[in-house]
Amino acid sequence: MGGAIRSVQALHDDQGPWRVGVDVGGRERQFVLRSLTPRIDAALIATGAAALEVAEVYGVRAPRLVAKDLDRCVTLETVASGNTNWPRTLPVARLRAAGAALARVHAIRLEPSPHLPSRTRPIAVDDFARDRRLGNLPTTPLLRQADELIQSLPQPQGETVFVHGDVWPGNLTSTCTLIDWKTAGVGNPGVDLGELRKQIAITYGATPQHIVDAWESASGRPATDIPYWDAVAALNTPTTLYNPEATARRDAFLRAALSQL
Ligand SMILES: Nc1ncnc2c1ncn2[C@@H]1O[C@H](COP(=O)(O)OP(=O)(O)OP(=O)(O)O)[C@@H](O)[C@H]1O
Ligand SMILES: [Mg+2]
Repeated sequence: MGGAIRSVQALHDDQGPWRVGVDVGGRERQFVLRSLTPRIDAALIATGAAALEVAEVYGVRAPRLVAKDLDRCVTLETVASGNTNWPRTLPVARLRAAGAALARVHAIRLEPSPHLPSRTRPIAVDDFARDRRLGNLPTTPLLRQADELIQSLPQPQGETVFVHGDVWPGNLTSTCTLIDWKTAGVGNPGVDLGELRKQIAITYGATPQHIVDAWESASGRPATDIPYWDAVAALNTPTTLYNPEATARRDAFLRAALSQL
């Protein structure tokens, strides 16, 4: 777009993405720039861009892609409306809005493609269950038992839809705009529903039905295999989370899922 960069602010510690102020026709406009960082590779940049293109075609609430240069691994997107601050007490209306927003994403039937591949778990760049299986991470009886059960079950079938792949409160703004699409792809809606349910369970210590209820109302169909996807999401976490309460909440969420499988 050719404008001079007036300001740069790192959005992940001292790394990208970066919020940049760009001079456009004498006025400073804000954008989010993504490029390679120690934790972000070319494939993640390409996936994020491809996902924003799909989101725009289907009118999904997401940043709009302004420019991309995949040879140089750089993209520019609009600043999403709203903020990613979540209240301390369980925000029921926001959970319902999140469920409805996910239903709009999952209404998009999509076949896998190079930058939007098939996803069988959230945050596909991580595979903590495999790391435990290989002995690269310590495990616990609960995590081992859950992993063995999930491994023994057939993968739920069904049509493949567009999935975000990393639906946690930090990627879902107060206006229900989904940001950070770098692990998007296609898969079962449960990939996103399980992840958000797990994140809410860890954050608030409760697993409310509102997300799935709102998703089902908006979709006009039942959400299937929720305990399976809850367990898959719970298994794709480090053995020990950032504090003992979070680990205990993850374990309680996983136990509840196992009891329904
Ligand atoms: N398009 C956008 N509009 C507004 N804010 C954004 C946008 N993209 C990113 N951000 C802000 O920058 C933060 C970090 O960006 P993003 O989530 O994409 O990358 P990340 O560093 O991988 O985050 P994390 O791993 O913590 O989810 C977001 O939590 C959000 O506050
Ligand atoms: Mg993020």
